[in-house]
Amino acid sequence: MPRHMTGAQRILEVLLTRRSVSPRRLQAPAPNPDELDAILQAGLRAPDHGALHPWRVIEFRAQNREALAWCFEQEKLRRDPLAAPADLKRAREHATRAPLLLGFVVSPRERSKIPAREQWLGAGAALGNILSAAHQLGYGAIVLSGERCFDETLARQVGVLPGEYLVGFISMGTIREAPPQARELLSQNVWSCWQGNALQALPELPEPPELPGPAPAQPIRPSERMRGN
Ligand SMILES: Cc1cc2nc3c(=O)[nH]c(=O)nc-3n(C[C@H](O)[C@H](O)[C@H](O)COP(=O)(O)O)c2cc1C
Repeated sequence: MPRHMTGAQRILEVLLTRRSVSPRRLQAPAPNPDELDAILQAGLRAPDHGALHPWRVIEFRAQNREALAWCFEQEKLRRDPLAAPADLKRAREHATRAPLLLGFVVSPRERSKIPAREQWLGAGAALGNILSAAHQLGYGAIVLSGERCFDETLARQVGVLPGEYLVGFISMGTIREAPPQARELLSQNVWSCWQGNALQALPELPEPPELPGPAPAQPIRPSERMRGN
């Protein structure tokens, strides 16, 4: 990261350079307890309508990884009773490979007046913050679900409660091997500019209000938005 960057530029750089790092590319050491605490604090700082934090993590420590590997192997056998030994080995490795392994659980509060979709978005924002915070601290991280996350028996075995969802396992550790280059993503793909005059084309709606002026003939590119304001 260039030294001349301001603090704000550095924070943006962290967001722009985050990549998921496969567990195969990770090694010890994992984030220490203080770092993990800071990473979870970043998750708790995500936008959260109603301050419900409708999510939680379950840490799988070293001494319990063999037991988790057994659960993963059994889950694989439930799905595929004829699974080959190599497939079972791979299932077990998902439990043992990562230096730090967290289950990410979404816990929508059913009785809350905050719509479920906003709670899910809040949990997703927290997950994003967690991955970015790990990256900011110099660690590699990735979230992986796979079919095991849809298995009710496994969910119960790892302590997921009725009404909660095990959405994935977060692996974290020191990057042993850099992940492949990220492909370029274009902000135009997720951006549009509302043309107020489109209201005229919706006959089933009541008369639109008087429009302030002619809509721009050409869409503005995202990079021009600020200048236009
Ligand atoms: C909840 C969740 C579950 C995911 N599960 C998988 C998975 O099982 N397998 C997979 O290849 N990618 C999975 N991904 C995607 C990867 O974590 C990663 O985001 C993706 O490979 C893109 O890489 P990037 O984060 O570097 O852009 C999942 C992402 C999320 C948010």
